[in-house]
Amino acid sequence: MLIFTRQADLTAHLKSATTAKSTIGFVPTMGALHAGHLSLIAESLRENDFTVMSIFVNPTQFNNPEDLKKYPRTLEADVEKIRTLSEDVIIYAPTVEDIYEGNTVSQHFDYDGLENQMEGKHRPGHFDGVGTIVKRLFEIVMPTNAYFGEKDFQQLQIVKKLASKYNLPVNVIGRPIFREANGLAMSSRNERLSASEKEKSAFIYKTLNAAKALFENKSAEEVKQWVENEFLSQPDFKLEYFEIAEESTLLPVIQQEKDKKYRAFIAVFVNEIRLIDTISLN
Ligand code: PAF
Repeated sequence: MLIFTRQADLTAHLKSATTAKSTIGFVPTMGALHAGHLSLIAESLRENDFTVMSIFVNPTQFNNPEDLKKYPRTLEADVEKIRTLSEDVIIYAPTVEDIYEGNTVSQHFDYDGLENQMEGKHRPGHFDGVGTIVKRLFEIVMPTNAYFGEKDFQQLQIVKKLASKYNLPVNVIGRPIFREANGLAMSSRNERLSASEKEKSAFIYKTLNAAKALFENKSAEEVKQWVENEFLSQPDFKLEYFEIAEESTLLPVIQQEKDKKYRAFIAVFVNEIRLIDTISLN
């Protein structure tokens, strides 16, 4: 398996190994890989001539320095997991210096308002950091197809917007959330949860499902109130937000309309570990 830490070496390899007709699948990650990431790689391997996976904990998308410090970094274990799938994956695991060349700052992006909702509201600058690294990685890897998990649904919509606004020639593909047996959405951050926190966190998806059922007869505001009350009686969790939004604009729902697709979004702290999840409502 090829592992590159320098963009110059990755670029040189891709230049010599590919032709103008080759397709490149790309799976950008921050490591601490789980079954969801592995399924994205498997899909990329099936659909493309080459598959590149990046493993890079991007400092500019963290608004909380403590979160950045504690983010799991498990490169050796990640490489072993990829190896169980295929030796053909090309790994790019750069240093901060290789990506940012001494200037570790974000570019500012306008995503037509998608950045002002939910994660954007609660994590100032987060989507500038995401846009900066994803655009940079797309420029380096030049993928035909790029694969993202739908757990970060807002990120997925933002990356699609980034690709269309900057005319980046890549298909941005979203894939469904992978869940633990108890329903907890798989996330690299779950590595920081204790076994009992993991078990209790099943409550998040259980509540999303109950909210989905309620949304059949109740307004978005009523469902929101209900979810907020549910969390008030749960001392192990601190609800940061629960929102029901229209999928393409991510604007909160005022009045349900036929033919529109809606989704519920949630961010919850379990001790100091922040988890997000989402569910399609129709
Ligand atoms: O979803 C993630 O893991 C990250 O936000 C991404 C897309 C790899 C950018 O750092």
